[in-house]
Amino acid sequence: MSSAVRMVQDEGGGPGVLHRPVCRVLQAHHAQMATVHMRDLFAADPARFERFSLRVGELLLDYSKNRITGDTMSLLERLAEEADVAGWRERMFAGDKINHTENRAVLHVALRNRGNFPVKVDGEDVMPKVNAVIERMGAFAERVRSGEWRGYTGERMTDVVNVGIGGSDLGPQMVVQALKPYRHPRLKMHFISNVDGAHVKEALEALNPETTLFIVSSKTFATQETMTNAHYAREWFLAQSQATGHIARHFVAVSANRDAVAAFGIDPAHMFEFWDWVGGRYSLWSAIGLPIVLVVGAERFAELLEGAHEMDEHFRHAPLAQNMPVILALLGIWYNNFFGAESHAILPYDHYLRSLPAYLQQADMESNGKSVDRDGRVVDYSTGAIVWGASGINGQHAFYQLLHQGGRMIPADFIVSVEPHTELQAHHDILFAHFLAQTEALMRGRTREETQLEMGSPEGGSAQTGQFVQHKVFDGNHPSNALLLQKLTPHALGMLIALYEHKIFVQGVIWNLNSYDQWGVELGKQLASRILPELQAAAPVTGHDASTSALINYYRRMRRPHAGL
Ligand code: F6P
Repeated sequence: MSSAVRMVQDEGGGPGVLHRPVCRVLQAHHAQMATVHMRDLFAADPARFERFSLRVGELLLDYSKNRITGDTMSLLERLAEEADVAGWRERMFAGDKINHTENRAVLHVALRNRGNFPVKVDGEDVMPKVNAVIERMGAFAERVRSGEWRGYTGERMTDVVNVGIGGSDLGPQMVVQALKPYRHPRLKMHFISNVDGAHVKEALEALNPETTLFIVSSKTFATQETMTNAHYAREWFLAQSQATGHIARHFVAVSANRDAVAAFGIDPAHMFEFWDWVGGRYSLWSAIGLPIVLVVGAERFAELLEGAHEMDEHFRHAPLAQNMPVILALLGIWYNNFFGAESHAILPYDHYLRSLPAYLQQADMESNGKSVDRDGRVVDYSTGAIVWGASGINGQHAFYQLLHQGGRMIPADFIVSVEPHTELQAHHDILFAHFLAQTEALMRGRTREETQLEMGSPEGGSAQTGQFVQHKVFDGNHPSNALLLQKLTPHALGMLIALYEHKIFVQGVIWNLNSYDQWGVELGKQLASRILPELQAAAPVTGHDASTSALINYYRRMRRPHAGL
C-alpha cells in the first residue's frame, strides 16, 4: 500500500476512526503546515517553549520542536475526544475486557495501583492477590539478597539467570540495566532469551551451579525458546548437583500456568504467579519483575511501581490538552497519518537506558502493528510506526546522517537525565550539549546562505569554490520531543515506562485497534513446529514453496549429522 493511501483518505467512506470529520479539517490544516518551517514558528513566538512543554513530577516534556501550532494541537485533541480516548481509558482502568479477541481485561495499571483502590475483574477485586505476590517476591528476594537462601551445597547465590523471551525478558532486562547504580553488590543478573545455543552456552560457561539461581519466566510456560533453554539449564544444573531434589533451591518460576510449572519439575510453592489480564509486554510490574526485585530490592521496586502509578494518575485525570501520554500519542498520529512518517526513533542519551529502544519496540510494535480494527475490518490508514533507535550519542556517529539529510521524516524522542549517576560532570555536560545540539540541528537545519557564510569564513575554508555548498545544507524541520528526567531513579523510570505504555494505548484507541492481542506472532510459531521435524526427515521434503523446500533440503544435506534434535 502506498504511503499516500495509508494516510488519511481524502474521500471518506472507509471504516475507522480516522475518517471522522475532524480528520478532514486536520488534513486541510496539514496542507497549510506542510510548508511551514519550525525555525519560523520559533522566530514568531518567543513563548513557544512555555506553550508546548509540560512537567509531570520529575519528567519534563518539551514538544515545542514539533511541526505544530496551537491549532494543530486543538484539532488533534478533538480527534482524541471523538475517538473517545477518555471513555476507553476508563474502561481499561475499570477492568473491562478491552482485549476482546482474547476476552481479557488489561490491567497492568492494577499491578502498580499504589492507592490500592479496588480493581475488579469478573466481580473480584484483584488487589489482594496483586499485593500478596508483591509481598512474596519481596520476601523471597530478601532471603536471596541477605544470603539466607542457600544453594544445595550451602553456598550463597551469586548469580541469577532469567530464562525468558519477549515480554518475559525485555522488560526486566531493560529495567535491571537502567537501575544498575542501585544493584546488589553480590548478585549478578543474566538474561537468556535466544534459542541459539550460543546464548545459553556462553551465559552458563562462567557460572557455578552451586551458586546460581534460575528464574524460568514464561506467562504460558509453553514458549519453545524459553522451554528449550530452561530444560538445558536444568540438565546443566543436574550434571553437577546430581539430584533432582536440589532443583527446589535453584529453580523458581514466574508464570500464569501452574500445571506446566509443576510438569517442568518446579515446585508450585516456588512459583510466582501472574494473571491473564497482564499482557506479556506490559508485565515487568508483575512477578515477571522478580529479577528487578532481586537486583535492586523490594523498596526500589516499590519506587518503580510508585513512579508508574504517578503517571497512571496523571494519565487518568489530566485534561487531554495537558496529558503527557495523550500529547505524545497525538504527535505520533500527526506525523504517521498526516505527514506519512513511517518510523519513530527512540534516542536515549543515557548509557543505562540503552535497552529502552528494544523494549519499546516490542511494547509498541506488538501492540499497534495491526491492520484489522476492533470490528474486524481491514483499515485503510497507517497504524503502528516502526519503532527503532539506539543510544543517541553513539547514533550520532552511525545513523544520524540519515536523520539530518536523508530526506525522510523520522520523528524522534530524545531522552536524557539532568543529573548523572557518575561524578563525571564534564562527561555529562558534553553528553547534554550533544543532545541539545542534535535537537536544535534537526529543528533549525542550516540554510544555504548560512552555509555559504560559514564556508567563506576561515574555519570553513575560503579556498573552496562553493561547489559543495549544497552538500552542507541541512533542511531542518525534523520534529523531535525532548524528555528530561531529573535523574534516572526507579521512580522516574517507572514514570517513563508508563508514559510510553499509555501513549501506545491512546494511539490504539484512535486507530480503533485491540492493542493487547498479538495474533501476528502465531503463524511463524505454527510453521516452525511443522518444519522442525522435517529438518531431520530421511526423505527430501517437498510440501512447501520451492524456496522453503529447497532451503530445508539444503540444511538437511549440509548440517552436522547428530542423533536427534
Ligand atoms: O510470541 C510473542 C509472545 O507471546 C510475547 O507476546 C510474549 O511476551 C512472549 O511471546 C513470551 O511469552 P511467554 O511469557 O508466554 O513465554
